[in-house]
Amino acid sequence: MQISVISVIRGKVWFSKLMFASRTNWNLKPNRLSQALERHKFGGRRLLDLNASNPTECGFNYDAPAILQALGNAESLQYHPDPRGLKSARQAVVDYYAERGEQVSADDLLLTASTSEAYSFILRLLCNPGDELLIPTPSYPLFDFLADVNDVKLSRYPLFYDHGWHIDVHALKQAVSPRTRGVIVVHPNNPTGHFTRPEEVAQLNQICADNQMAVIADEVFLDFSLGAAEKSFVGNTGALTFTMSGISKISGLPQMKLAWLAVSGPANSKREALARLEMIADTYLSMNAPIQLAAPIFLKQRENFQRQLMARVRANLAELDAQLAKEKKLDRLNVEAGWYAVLRVPATRPDEDLAIDLLEKHDVYVHPGHFYDFPGEGYLVVSLITPEQDFAEGIRRILLAQSVSG
Ligand SMILES: Cc1ncc(COP(=O)(O)O)c(C=O)c1O
Repeated sequence: MQISVISVIRGKVWFSKLMFASRTNWNLKPNRLSQALERHKFGGRRLLDLNASNPTECGFNYDAPAILQALGNAESLQYHPDPRGLKSARQAVVDYYAERGEQVSADDLLLTASTSEAYSFILRLLCNPGDELLIPTPSYPLFDFLADVNDVKLSRYPLFYDHGWHIDVHALKQAVSPRTRGVIVVHPNNPTGHFTRPEEVAQLNQICADNQMAVIADEVFLDFSLGAAEKSFVGNTGALTFTMSGISKISGLPQMKLAWLAVSGPANSKREALARLEMIADTYLSMNAPIQLAAPIFLKQRENFQRQLMARVRANLAELDAQLAKEKKLDRLNVEAGWYAVLRVPATRPDEDLAIDLLEKHDVYVHPGHFYDFPGEGYLVVSLITPEQDFAEGIRRILLAQSVSG
């Protein structure tokens, strides 16, 4: 999660002198929680950061020699630009899907520096200025900025919780307008940690096919299922589909900047989409040689990384459940996958006030649900990749704070 994106107040401000494009008229003032965090840093007290989302700072053991050696490939001294990305790197992505039992052709893949860049390419491909995309709510807050940068409008479709999260398909249909170009699904979603169900995929395909819209699937957390492995959208052919992922989550290597998008769907629209995307990518040629050449090794790193990460997630969930078992006022929502858990707390005051209190009085940093557009108050998001001891102590303090508050 980009720290800067979540630390500001969303919404626009207007300058009297229009020196800059209006799409960048953001209110960049830090929100109240970020201000409190800044103050806390100066106070010098140890922080229990239950928002940890940077895997390189969570105490996982990386195979440093293998990673560093992969960066020293002598072929990096040559420049062989390919707008879709080096064939060898795309083949590594093909192999990744094959190991999951999914088929993708290297010809249907494009490499990008990040999933965010892949989103931008797709938005430039699909949307004229003012066109719309549907995004899930709750979900993660990068979309507003991506949409602004690409002159796209967002409409929200609600997810609802009933023994697990579901798409409100009726509301989604209602949100479609003549200007809607696609539906974004985050599979599994951040931070709710649920997968799009097969019957929902079928409904999405139908809606998209009927309205000349595309499915845009963000699968950066696909491998982090707590149950059986779930199917990717890469094989989805019921509508034009763009599936994105990358090594920032899959292998825990966000600093290496390697992601991809796969195109699937009806043959004609798929061919046209790929040709246009190739032109967009050719305009930037943002992929660098050393990282592409290291792609097979970096993707292989996922085995070591995911083993450690899933052990951490399971241990933290078990600890959370053990502590919640003694609690009446708090519980957690069901998690199917991903790096986060959602706590349900008494909705007696704004979540942001509660998060600030936890920070200032208990040295615990959590995100309030409203950062992710949860419906109403009463939700906190905690990161399950937080080192175990900090997590256990942080949860203990959250529960204590709740019992003290009444
Ligand atoms: C759902 C989701 N998609 C995409 C990203 C960004 O991924 P990348 O680092 O590849 O841009 C994040 C980062 O937290 C995320 O949570």
